[in-house]
Amino acid sequence: MGATVPLKVTVNGEAHASEVPARMLLVHYLRDELGLTGTHVGCDTSSCGACTCLVDGESAKTCTVLAVQADGSEITTIEGMAGADGTLHPLQEGFWAEHGLQCGYCTPGMIMAAADLLARREGAGRVGAVSEQEVRKALEGNLCRCTGYHNIVKAVQAAAEASRRITV
Ligand code: FES
Ligand code: FES
Repeated sequence: MGATVPLKVTVNGEAHASEVPARMLLVHYLRDELGLTGTHVGCDTSSCGACTCLVDGESAKTCTVLAVQADGSEITTIEGMAGADGTLHPLQEGFWAEHGLQCGYCTPGMIMAAADLLARREGAGRVGAVSEQEVRKALEGNLCRCTGYHNIVKAVQAAAEASRRITV
């Protein structure tokens, strides 16, 4: 077994201190060490976006990040998007209402990438309606094998319309 290194991260608001293999990928830390299996592995080569999470508020493909590179970071996974009382995040509502998924494999990554988009827009004072073009550009690193993207775009647009203040 290779060398281990200390790792401290906050995931979905909860602090974790671990010893992890130096070569462990962040996605494997989240899934295998913390049991947060909503973050998926689709390709392991930074192509599909299924592993997308927020790291310090920005979307990141967690199969491209070593766990130790996230030391000290705040991470949000799909499990952290709903409220403590189970209230769905507007993006989760949007995907449900607009039928933005079929098999669902890509969905957590899509939602996290869309959360990055909406948070960036909010930071720039651009809340409310978002164009199809802007959504497609923001999600270009996330692949879906099922839906043809049309309803995914509609889901993100619905969430943008529904939420004047999205915080993640
Ligand atoms: S599993 Fe990370 S981009 Fe595909
Ligand atoms: S819903 Fe199946 S891969 Fe996107």
